[in-house]
Amino acid sequence: MEAATGRKMEAVMELAERVKRIDVSPTMAVLMEAEKLKAQGIDVVDFGPGEPDFPTPEHIKRGAIKALEENRTKYTPAAGIAPLRQAICDWHRAQFGSSYEPAECIVTVGGKQAIFNAACSLINAGDEVVMGVPYWVSYPDIVKYAGGTPVLVETCADDDFCLRASKIEKAITRKTRIVIVNSPNNPTGAVIPPGEFARILEVCKRRGVWLLSDECYSHFVYGEERPYSAASLPGAKEQLIVAGSLSKTFAMTGWRLGYAFTPQPLVQALTKLASQSTSNPVSIVQYAALEALRGPMDSVRTMLAEYARRRERILAGLRAIPGITCTAPQGAFYMFPNVAAHLGARAADTSVVTRQLLEREHVAVVPGEAFGAPGHLRISYAASMERIEEGLRRLGRFFGQST
Ligand SMILES: Cc1ncc(COP(=O)(O)O)c(C=O)c1O
Repeated sequence: MEAATGRKMEAVMELAERVKRIDVSPTMAVLMEAEKLKAQGIDVVDFGPGEPDFPTPEHIKRGAIKALEENRTKYTPAAGIAPLRQAICDWHRAQFGSSYEPAECIVTVGGKQAIFNAACSLINAGDEVVMGVPYWVSYPDIVKYAGGTPVLVETCADDDFCLRASKIEKAITRKTRIVIVNSPNNPTGAVIPPGEFARILEVCKRRGVWLLSDECYSHFVYGEERPYSAASLPGAKEQLIVAGSLSKTFAMTGWRLGYAFTPQPLVQALTKLASQSTSNPVSIVQYAALEALRGPMDSVRTMLAEYARRRERILAGLRAIPGITCTAPQGAFYMFPNVAAHLGARAADTSVVTRQLLEREHVAVVPGEAFGAPGHLRISYAASMERIEEGLRRLGRFFGQST
């Protein structure tokens, strides 16, 4: 069949190279599979989602309702309303001791847009972006979409998956443009200690590359750890991009609100990109975010206490399953057990294990392959204690049979 232009239909349907370079987020794919089973009435234990299972706190919801009642429903500046940019700076200063002004801040459609637009603003074809493995699923695809090449730096379970400055330095070449760090880390829960962060920043400054610090899980840290931002380091601001989000901290994943801090010229580039693509983050959500940042942090503390309880339980439960080893995560809300001992004739890799787990035991997890770490599974414990107990029973049964 020929289209009106005379071009063959296949040529009409051919997608742009930049879109062909990327894949659908594998975590979204798991979510969709689990949803299909749930729609058939099947009782799925869903350890897939990377989002809090708590509702958004009441005072934030009321902020959105009030904004609607006051007809805050028009376009806003692409970089966000002025009071919110100020509130983000104030909140970040109070939480982490940073010192940003609103001109160094942009409000974004989730932390993901901050990372995506920063990559698109800085990367030219052939530029390299250094990141740790395991990585958050979207980093390599965002870098590839922007025309860059991801350069992977190994971390290891024996070192609690901590990304080290010495390894980053070895991976930096003349083509390196950005180093991405994510602490607390998705999927490992690794937390980079302040001293290591200072060394990473020193390497980036000395080698003339940007440090992109993704602090979307900043408030979910356990034991001795305290919420921490690279922005609090002396002299940090020059080559630093902080990507932050209200998604996890305030249980607001669906609202889509994040932010970036970075020097003004880059904020202007991010704003230009937003103005030609998404325009402003949803107006009503920006007013709700004001309530989140100016209001009490009690809900965050309550969530953290509950995650801490679940973390203990699921860690003990996983470690009790023969053939599974699991590092104790210091932050976020994921376990990243190593199940390599269970691979073999019945399952060649963890993608197969994930499929079998969903089919046989109706447990949804994300395979390590999605994070560049085959042999592992990502298990989200943003699920009730009751679901965790049930999930552990099913996992025990599954791995008991598959050895
Ligand atoms: C490490 C990491 N960074 C960034 C994001 C983006 O979050 P959002 O766009 O909802 O703020 C996520 C979401 O899962 C994440 O896990």
